Amino acid sequence: MKISVVGTGYVGLVTGVCLSEIGHNVTCIDINEEKVTSLKKGKSPIYEPGLEELMVKNIEENRLEFTSDLVKGYSGAEVIYIAVGTPQMEDGSADLSYVESVAKDVATYIKNDSIIVIKSTVPVGTNERVLAIIQSLVKGKYKVNIVSNPEFLREGSAVKDTFHGDRIVIGYAEESAGRVLESINKPFGIPIFKTDIRSAEMIKYASNAFLATKISFINEIANICEKIDANIEDVSKGMGLDKRIGEHFLNAGIGYGGSCFPKDTKALVQIAGQNLYDFELLSSVIRVNSNQQYLLVEKLKQRLGNLSGKTIALWGLAFKPNTDDMREAPSIVISQRLVDEGANVIAYDPIAIGNAKKILNKEVAYAESFSDAIKGADALLILTEWNEVKTFNLEEINQLMKTPIIFDGRNCFDLKDAMKANIEYYSIGRPPVTHAE
Ligand code: UDX
Repeated sequence: MKISVVGTGYVGLVTGVCLSEIGHNVTCIDINEEKVTSLKKGKSPIYEPGLEELMVKNIEENRLEFTSDLVKGYSGAEVIYIAVGTPQMEDGSADLSYVESVAKDVATYIKNDSIIVIKSTVPVGTNERVLAIIQSLVKGKYKVNIVSNPEFLREGSAVKDTFHGDRIVIGYAEESAGRVLESINKPFGIPIFKTDIRSAEMIKYASNAFLATKISFINEIANICEKIDANIEDVSKGMGLDKRIGEHFLNAGIGYGGSCFPKDTKALVQIAGQNLYDFELLSSVIRVNSNQQYLLVEKLKQRLGNLSGKTIALWGLAFKPNTDDMREAPSIVISQRLVDEGANVIAYDPIAIGNAKKILNKEVAYAESFSDAIKGADALLILTEWNEVKTFNLEEINQLMKTPIIFDGRNCFDLKDAMKANIEYYSIGRPPVTHAE
């Protein structure tokens, strides 16, 4: 199958590379020439485990190419995946201008009957709108079909998820187009769920909204656990053993971030609102998440009092481990709040530090390593559960810090270990450790 993928962002690139890996001929199109030049050399602009290896392999085996030349990019494509961004607008709704501009390009450059697949997360009804735009410009010269095929990949394990995901959702109006998408995806060996276009669009939003709800729910339970001396880890485990609840996404912390949950939850509230439905539950989920991000700073202020002139170390800046993505990371608002309170903030993240430097408040200083960051610090805030953090020697923390006080937003350490190391340790939803064993 000859496939073109438009947009080489996170979704488009992973999709294009993985489709080539299962044997399709894939051309990835991006208007950014500089990016295309580096992609051609097998260099990925995003940090995603396993992606570059597959890029290099499939470029060498002539199944994968990159171009910024639209004529060449669309030429001969039987199926065109649209995977451009749908950023959040000021009112929370999704900005569809990139998707619509690609729709116009598609209409201009296709030279045969085509199936258009929308991978980007788009509000319900967008697939039909895109089809209408293309059809109005193609004027019956070619037959154009549209299929909604949302992605459910997690950053940091996107390649693995593509080959081992739980389901592939295909939404279509015409049976023949649905069948083509089914055959394209068959080699992944993942259950395929077929439905109508609007339901497919909704599945993506509803799934992300539900996962975000699970996180805000467990975060509130954690906050209550702190007040009643219960331990959220055991509460989560005990809940998760019920198959109807499930063990995943019950880790309490400082709230969700990233490119999907914050944007998609707000967009779904907007979609509901536009249809005169007040999605109260999801609005609360968003509010709870925002409050949760400030929790560590509140605890820190309660313990240290005025933060002015205090040196506060931050471990981890990315919105989660194994990614360099800083989008909507809790570290953004936390570091800003600390700077506003007059603290000297010194941060370290093994991968996201480059991106962090571009967006965090300029007052934030950066260390060369986790150890370096805590030297002489008055307190440490853990914001991302990198493996290196979880395995860090607590005795060393005790020696390096001016006062060994940790506020852990990701529950990285065992309470007994903190006690043994004589560290003052405040985590989420677990009893504080304030004295040595
Ligand atoms: C998410 C969805 O999982 C994926 O299906 C969708 O396509 C895109 O959005 P991603 O943003 O990569 O993927 O990250 P994910 O691993 O889901 O984590 C999202 C956020 O939730 C992170 O900030 C993470 O720290 C937080 N989280 C996750 C929790 O706080 N607790 C949990 O139990 C799980």
